[in-house]
Order: sequence, then C-alpha cells, then structure tokens
Amino acid sequence: MTGYTYPDKNDVMTSQLIGEVSRNDYWGKSERLVLERAEEFIRKSAQAEGSGCKAEGVVVGSALDLGCGQGRLLPWLAALASEVTGAEPDPERMKAAAVLAEGLKTAAGQPVSVLCGDVSEAEKHIAPESLDLALSSHVIQHIPMAVTGDMFMRLGRLMKKGGILVMTATISPGAEDAYTLESMKDGVRSSERSDRAGFEAAADMPGVLPVAFYTQNTVKGFMEPAGFDLADVWGYHFDVPGRFADVSDDRAFNEAGDLSFARDVMYIFVRR
Ligand SMILES: C[S@@+](CC[C@H](N)C(=O)[O-])C[C@H]1O[C@@H](n2cnc3c(N)ncnc32)[C@H](O)[C@@H]1O
Repeated sequence: MTGYTYPDKNDVMTSQLIGEVSRNDYWGKSERLVLERAEEFIRKSAQAEGSGCKAEGVVVGSALDLGCGQGRLLPWLAALASEVTGAEPDPERMKAAAVLAEGLKTAAGQPVSVLCGDVSEAEKHIAPESLDLALSSHVIQHIPMAVTGDMFMRLGRLMKKGGILVMTATISPGAEDAYTLESMKDGVRSSERSDRAGFEAAADMPGVLPVAFYTQNTVKGFMEPAGFDLADVWGYHFDVPGRFADVSDDRAFNEAGDLSFARDVMYIFVRR
C-alpha cells in the first residue's frame, strides 16, 4: 500500500467531535476504562496459560498495532509485550509514530519498531502464527469493507492460536449499519449521512473521512471467516441525549447491555 494519506490530518475532525460531545476529559477516561478492561483480559489469559519462559513484567510475547496512526497506543502495548511493532500506511503519521517509539522500550527492554504500510507490510516482518496480541484501534470504520475483510484474514494468519485481538470501532445505534462522510468546511467539521455506496466511494475522495457505524453482526461477519471468536464487548464514548456523559454512564449502560448511545465499542477476539 503506497501513496495513502489519512484524510483527517492531525486528527482535527476527531478533536472537534470530541470537543462537541465530551466534557471533563470524559473521552479520555472512557477509553482508559476500555484499555484497563482489555489489559485485565490479556493478563488473565496469560496467567491461565502459565508463565512459560517470559521475563519478569512481560505479559505477552509479540504484539502488533495495525493502523497505529501517530502511535498514541504504542506505550500501552509496550508495557505488556516483549516485542512491539506498529504499522501505519500514511507516511506522515508513521513518522510521528516512529518519533514517539524512539522514546519507548517494551516490557522486555526492546525497542519498538514502526513500519510504513498496512497488513501486507506487516506480513514481510512478522512470521505466520507468531503474534500473541494485536490491536486495531478505530481503523475499520474508515476503510472499504473488502479491505477490512482482507486485513483480518491476513492478520488471522499472523496470530498464534489463542492470540488476542483488541479491536475498537464505531458502532451502529440501530439494527442496520450506518454511514457518514465527514469533512472540514470553513474550519468547522461537517458530517453528512451517507449509504454504503457513498462510504465506499469516499475512500478515494481527498479531504473526506468516511465513517461506518457497523452492527455487531457485521463485525462478526468480518471476524468469523478469519478465525476469530468474540470474547468480550464493551461500549464506550456514550453520547447521551440532553447532557454530557461521564464514566458512570459507561458502567451503567454496559451492565444493562444497552449500547444504543455508545459511539464506540471495544471487541476482544480470540484466534481459534
Ligand atoms: C482513526 S485513525 C486511528 C489511529 C490509531 N489506531 C489510534 O487509535 O489513535 C485510523 C488509522 O488507520 C490507518 N489506516 C488506513 N487504512 C489502513 C489499512 N488498510 N490498514 C491499517 N491502517 C490503516 C489510517 O492511516 C489512520 O492512521
């Protein structure tokens, strides 16, 4: 994959969205809850497997952040894994991730490496069936469905049996997938409803960020053929009508199994 540029330069549209719907760092706190939940799952799985010959402080062996952007979540992976790779197809964002990675060491004291490219680049550097952990954070909602399907088929082949994939994405509020097209107009984020054809066509439109809001069934449809079983679901970034959400909403809505106001969702999948 060459010549790709992510349309939301420096995450300007995403930052505006967060400013519109979140107060008191709710956005950050809501994601931290997700990362803590994922980490607990990863630690429990590692304990169940036994320590093997891992060095102290190392929870898993090899980890990949596929679509790592500017490397925001590489420190989280580095604190858990002995080997960490980030892969990012937008060269500018990849460079930012590489700079961030220079200041990082993995749990085993190794450097973190960052590749410029998508899963096909990762395949050149990572052996089949060698990954213990993978992260796909907010990637699938912005790329054509065929690309998502192919990405997970190939990622599935890189993962060990029992390997864990933490995936976050937007979620549909209803029973059908939904789509929007986001762009900047006079410095202000604008969002238009679209349909699947519009979402797919926007992949080649400069300055337009396509966003898919998939149902859980659509996501399972990508993952099951790739050999992944769903182990956990947690909604987050709630947008509650008439007021600003806080993390007590995250707990209450998830306990009630009601994700209708969640913008985002975390899925944990296990490679069968
Ligand atoms: C919303 S950003 C998320 C970045 C990062 N994962 C995070 O959570 O901060 C989506 C990222 O996916 C990358 N991307 C686009 N197409 C991709 C593909 N086919 N494979 C992997 N990443 C891709 C984009 O360049 C962009 O950096």
